[in-house]
Amino acid sequence: VRTAADHVPDSTDVAELRAAAKTCQGCDLYRDATQTVFGAGDPHARVMLVGEQPGDVEDRRGEPFVGPAGGVLERALADADIDRRHTYVTNAVKHFKFTPAERGKRRLHKTPGQTEIVACRPWLVAELAAVRPLVLVCLGATAAKAVLGPEFRVSRQRGQVLPAPGALAEAEDRERSAAGSSAGAGPAVVATIHPSAVLRARDRDDMYAGLVDDLRVVARELA
Ligand code: URA
Ligand code: SF4
Repeated sequence: VRTAADHVPDSTDVAELRAAAKTCQGCDLYRDATQTVFGAGDPHARVMLVGEQPGDVEDRRGEPFVGPAGGVLERALADADIDRRHTYVTNAVKHFKFTPAERGKRRLHKTPGQTEIVACRPWLVAELAAVRPLVLVCLGATAAKAVLGPEFRVSRQRGQVLPAPGALAEAEDRERSAAGSSAGAGPAVVATIHPSAVLRARDRDDMYAGLVDDLRVVARELA
C-alpha cells in the first residue's frame, strides 16, 4: 500500500520534517488540497495534541487549529490550565479532505478514511519521535484510531490515562536510532472528543465541560 513512509526523512527535527511534508504524495489527498498542514507549536512540548485533519481555514492558512475548532481548543486548554504556547498541535491526516463547494459556498469537510489515516501515520510517528511528549492527547475518533487502533472507542475510554500502545514503538525505534540511546516508555495517552463536536452539539455547554474535564486529566499528568 502507498503511504507517506517514502517521503519521511530520517530526522527528529520538526522543521526538517515539516519541510519534507510539503511535497508528500503518500495518498491522493495532496491533489485537491491547497497545502500540507503540518504540526505546529513547541517542538519540545510536554503535551502533543492530535486532531483529525485540517479544515477549510487551516487548508488556506497552512496551520493547524486556526479556525473555529481551534478557537474552542484554545479556550478549553486555558480553562484546563494548559498553556497552548507549551503544546505541539498536529493532525492525524495532514491534507484537507473535502467535497468541492458549489459556487461561493464553503468546501465541505469529509472524514478521512482508514486508508488516509494509515497512509499519513508515518508523519505522526515521526512527529512523536521528534517532540517526545509526556502526554499525547487524541482529539476525536480519527486521532484515537491513528494512535490507539481502529477498534478504540472514544465514548468508552475518554478521559482515561492510557499507556502508549505497542504500535507506537515505531516512534521509539526511530528515536533510538536517531539519538543512539535507549528510549523511555512512550507517552501517556488521553483521548477526548474533537473540539468541533462542541460546535455541532445541541448541548454545547455539556460537551464543552466534558472536553475541559478530560484536558484537566492531562494537566494533572503534567503536574
Ligand atoms: N479540525 C482538526 O481536526 N484539525 C484542525 O487543524 C482543524 C480542525
Ligand atoms: Fe501525504 Fe498525509 Fe497528505 Fe496523504 S494526507 S499526501 S499521506 S501528507
